[in-house]
Amino acid sequence: MSVRVGVAGLGHWGPNLARNFADLAELAWLCDEDPARSDVAERYPHARFTTSYDDLLADEALDAIVVATPVPTHFELARRALEADKHVLVEKPPATQARDMDELVVLAAERDRVLLPGHLLLYHPGIRRVKEMLDAGELGDVLCVYGNRQNLGIIRSNENALLSLGVHDLSVILYLLDEDPETAVAQGRDFLTQGVEDVVFCYLRFPSGRIAHMHLSWLDPHKMRKITVVGTEKMVVFDDMELERKVTVYEKGPWRPSDRYGEWQTRTGDIFSPRIPNDEPLKLECAEFLRLIEGDGDRRKVAADGARVVRALDMLTSSLDGGS
Ligand SMILES: NC(=O)c1ccc[n+]([C@@H]2O[C@H](COP(=O)([O-])OP(=O)(O)OC[C@H]3O[C@@H](n4cnc5c(N)ncnc54)[C@H](O)[C@@H]3O)[C@@H](O)[C@H]2O)c1
Repeated sequence: MSVRVGVAGLGHWGPNLARNFADLAELAWLCDEDPARSDVAERYPHARFTTSYDDLLADEALDAIVVATPVPTHFELARRALEADKHVLVEKPPATQARDMDELVVLAAERDRVLLPGHLLLYHPGIRRVKEMLDAGELGDVLCVYGNRQNLGIIRSNENALLSLGVHDLSVILYLLDEDPETAVAQGRDFLTQGVEDVVFCYLRFPSGRIAHMHLSWLDPHKMRKITVVGTEKMVVFDDMELERKVTVYEKGPWRPSDRYGEWQTRTGDIFSPRIPNDEPLKLECAEFLRLIEGDGDRRKVAADGARVVRALDMLTSSLDGGS
């Protein structure tokens, strides 16, 4: 039987989720507190539109809720959905404070519901390919990872560059390295809107000794969406601005010849781009949510991985606020 899904929040992003769930499952409800957003519902005559989230919670035949509302509402809406025994896919980040996310994880476990944060890039076939290379040891020892997410605009005045842009890169860095940072510090400046940082630099250090960095900005001449991983044997770049060469592998690295008394040299070999499937990451994310609901995969792990991202985000935010 098809999973019945309701989507809450029909602004810029929610309609993309609605489109995918209409394809993959039964789109039963569309919800936005703004009645003008009922225009989205016209595309889906079988789905009911409401301005009240309570209608979704009260529908006992509804299996799952997708939360695509603004960040400050995520925790509350996800909590209420879990309390109503619904599976939840909640846009990133599900909470901005670690203790709130822990509450969601506990609730999901108690109710045996899926709690899937919408970390879109983790479903990108290019990022999956980079992860396979790391896990297979193809890069040698991984030394550092850094993310660039810069552009001129979109200038936001309600959430800073760390929350708006950084969660993507943070989720990827933690997925690739698979460890919690012991240090996570951020520095930035609110040039345009008081209290909202437009440019943020982050530094993370992990128990293994590996380090990571993120440059997040909407005041920049470069449009960059890039993750670079530096290993001792190879280096790999995921570049989401590239149409075809999303992943480039550099056979470059440090090298110490045995006859040179310890002097380091560098080694340069081939540079190549593996073929990356063109599948839509959001469709893969939605399909994963449905698979988890149907009992396939580890629902505890996806919730715990989401909590790891929120913990690191919380550390970065408190250091940005001057708290550490
Ligand atoms: N994964 C991605 O790549 C990606 C991309 C864009 C946005 N997002 C995320 O999606 C979320 C929404 O972003 P957006 O750009 O669509 O925002 P938006 O402001 O365009 O839309 C949010 C909508 O939610 C509605 N809303 C607010 N509170 C509500 C409530 N309590 N009940 C029902 N509806 C409510 C608003 O009326 C609005 O229509 C954000 O969390 C954002 O971070 C993710």
